[in-house]
Amino acid sequence: MNEKIIRDVCAVGSDVLGSRYFAEAMQQKHHGRTTVGEHSMRVACTGLQISRLLEKMHVEVDEKAVIRSGLCHDLGILGRSEKFRNNRECCWRHPIDSVDVANYILQDLTEKEADGISNHMWPLTGKRPTYLEGMILTIADKYSSMLDTVKPKMYRKGAGNQNTEQQADHRAG
Ligand SMILES: [Fe+2]
Ligand SMILES: [Fe+2]
Repeated sequence: MNEKIIRDVCAVGSDVLGSRYFAEAMQQKHHGRTTVGEHSMRVACTGLQISRLLEKMHVEVDEKAVIRSGLCHDLGILGRSEKFRNNRECCWRHPIDSVDVANYILQDLTEKEADGISNHMWPLTGKRPTYLEGMILTIADKYSSMLDTVKPKMYRKGAGNQNTEQQADHRAG
């Protein structure tokens, strides 16, 4: 993963990355081979890469929304085994719960960010994201989920503390 992309995600997403929710996310397994935290970091970085590609084509993108919604989109899945009765319930409910967590961490969560987070499972569940940033999130999520299974380690350790930037493994991703 590009060093500048990681640095920009860390700067814009510092409130989320420094939260106790993200520290917990670094401990919870996800997609078999990675953690919720590593996956979320990958989604935010991939989303930012897609945004910068679109900007080169003169498409205006709200990068802050892409980064923050990418980092928060799965935080509602924390405590999965105690919280949800089955995978189906997890699938439709965790995006809604992620909006609650994002609202708790970020006092200024925007309607655009909330819409993207609550519909990131589209077209499986939810509705089509209203904004471009939400579409970027859903694409970045699916692409990252695939990479999670074949190349799970994007970072050496956790991203759930202030040292996230130093922990980024620039050889990978
Ligand atoms: Fe999700
Ligand atoms: Fe995800």
